[in-house]
Amino acid sequence: MIAIEATNTLDVLINDKKPLDIEIGFGKGQFILQKAQLYKDINFIGFEVKDGLVNYVVKAIENLRLSNIYVEKSFADVSIPAKIPNERIRNIYVNFPDPWWKRKHKKRRILHKEFIQSFYNSLEIGGIIYVRTDVKEYSEFVQKNFLEFDSFQPIEHDILSDNIMSNREVRCISEGLDIYYLAFKKIK
Ligand SMILES: C[S@@+](CC[C@H](N)C(=O)[O-])C[C@H]1O[C@@H](n2cnc3c(N)ncnc32)[C@H](O)[C@@H]1O
Repeated sequence: MIAIEATNTLDVLINDKKPLDIEIGFGKGQFILQKAQLYKDINFIGFEVKDGLVNYVVKAIENLRLSNIYVEKSFADVSIPAKIPNERIRNIYVNFPDPWWKRKHKKRRILHKEFIQSFYNSLEIGGIIYVRTDVKEYSEFVQKNFLEFDSFQPIEHDILSDNIMSNREVRCISEGLDIYYLAFKKIK
């Protein structure tokens, strides 16, 4: 996997003392870039599989001179267990994951059970996975999957007050689509 590095390295942000938040599939990056600008005392790492989107966000990080964010091109379900130490992550954000409607493609869905298992160790106790989606069936799929882990508890999605939205979220709101906000806390 080719890592496209921004101003920071993964190791620097991981070994730093600040809390670490991850965004999986950041797309054009509005959410993670705004978070990194607003919360300078938190480090942010983003994983995204599309080259063009990673390059776009790397340029934005450089232009904004942000030192608390690193993004790379890789599959989060491979990179998180391989690169992030146990109990290092505070929050994981998954915003508007691809729905993969066709039955034969459903295995590709972020937040299927194996995917949740892949990042379980890297999340700290008390760490939270925040999910946003405009697909009702996907929100039900995610809730069902988390229910199968007694180590996760559904909680309120309580981080909307800063009004930071992903690119897709802005579009959904302008089109009047329903959005489902979910959150799950690692309790053991
Ligand atoms: C529908 S887009 C949403 C983009 C952005 N989060 C937003 O809300 O605007 C989903 C993104 O997840 C990325 N993606 C899908 N599977 C991934 C994986 N396993 N690891 C990292 N990124 C992934 C896709 O390339 C795509 O850019």
